Amino acid sequence: MFLFDQRRAPMLVSLSMGLAIPPLPDSSRVNSAGHLEVAGCDLMELAAEYGTPLIVYDEDQIRERFREYKRAFSVRTDDFDIIYASKAFTCIAMCQLIVQEGISLDVASGGELYTALKAWFPPENILLHGNANSRDELERAVRNEVGHVVVDSLHELKALDETAAAQGKMQKILLRITPGIEAHTHDFIQTGKLDSKFGLCLEAGVADDAVAAAMAATNLELIGLHCHIGSQIFGLEPYRKSIAVMADFAFVCAEKHSFTCQLLDVGGGLGVGYTSDDDPASIDELADIIVKSVADEFGRVGLPVPRIAVEPGRSIVANAGLTAYTIETVKTIPGVKTYVAVSGGMSDNMRPMLYGAEYVALIADRPEAEATITVTVVGKHCESGDVLIKESGLPDPRPGDLLITPCTGAYGYSMASNYNGQTRPAVVFVKEGRARTVIRRESYEDLVHLQEHLEP
Ligand code: LLP
Repeated sequence: MFLFDQRRAPMLVSLSMGLAIPPLPDSSRVNSAGHLEVAGCDLMELAAEYGTPLIVYDEDQIRERFREYKRAFSVRTDDFDIIYASKAFTCIAMCQLIVQEGISLDVASGGELYTALKAWFPPENILLHGNANSRDELERAVRNEVGHVVVDSLHELKALDETAAAQGKMQKILLRITPGIEAHTHDFIQTGKLDSKFGLCLEAGVADDAVAAAMAATNLELIGLHCHIGSQIFGLEPYRKSIAVMADFAFVCAEKHSFTCQLLDVGGGLGVGYTSDDDPASIDELADIIVKSVADEFGRVGLPVPRIAVEPGRSIVANAGLTAYTIETVKTIPGVKTYVAVSGGMSDNMRPMLYGAEYVALIADRPEAEATITVTVVGKHCESGDVLIKESGLPDPRPGDLLITPCTGAYGYSMASNYNGQTRPAVVFVKEGRARTVIRRESYEDLVHLQEHLEP
């Protein structure tokens, strides 16, 4: 029986006990043993083989999301680029999958760039971001001939020009502009409003100065503009507004600096459904508003319509991934609550602590069993705030059970830490009944291998 079929149930499915489960990977089902399986792999068996916490991705679902983006844009325009935002989740195998899907890559640090190059990612399809790139990061980007650098400040513009000159290269750039638009999302993941550490503001001519400086730079070629209004965005109207602002700015720069905006990158941000309260827009709706707005707004100011780029991260990988934890203890404080403590926590999923993000849980060997108790699911870290789920209905949870939190594929592993000496989880891709390790579990030896020690 399929738990979740996107075609039939676009958002949520209610299991028999009435618990709303957010999109498990498309291939999730309850197998003949009564266990939850993904892409033909029994999660109980995977946990026994790999240990927990374990992050499991449905590989075909990741591929399908990329194809959905491509389809959604290609039916509306011929001139577009899908650029995956590495920060949501990256590793060498992920980069290789992205190459196979013909998608470009956004890297936001020397480390993400290094990972991409290790995967033989074509550098011309890489775009480097960052609000504080070091000289070393810029030098690496130029030396490896990344396609574009998204310049975030006047200082970076100068440093990049010097770097490119020193290497005798011309570097293509976009300028990141803060359009002054507030997206309706958590304050920590808003990035397009005026008061932001990201980008060049339009106020007091800052962005204008940057265009002038970029046009005058000897070793930089200004290709276009970039903006990113934030992440986990549900209402799409801010996209239209920011595109209008960008078109106005492109017009001013065309008049004043003879600048032609060949590429407009509108960033990422599409939200996903973590719980039944979330009602995200579809990839199709996003493509629709972006392509229409770019055509309308550039038409309005009388400029040619630029090539469009988008940088999705979360909407590609969030729903494709889930985390499997072992329940280690169940502790009832009479008259207060029951804590279910699992084998991971804030070290593999910071999102509840950082943004108050909400998740749901189910038990892998009885995913359809009726909830018997409402519990608080906590991690194993020495922090009272290490709470994964404040209130979760579970069917008689017991130590040794395998607890699954769906929808942890984005910004989980990529923000993981070794707090309390916790080793980072293994990550596996599952497909057609087979699992392959894409990141092995860290060992205790990995934990100490950078540390100096004296002989006894
Ligand atoms: N492009 C730029 C320039 C970005 O800064 C980001 C995300 C993206 C694209 C991808 O956005 P997405 O499609 O994933 O929303 N750690 C937070 C999210 C931080 C997002 C940072 N930038 C979280 O877990 O919610």
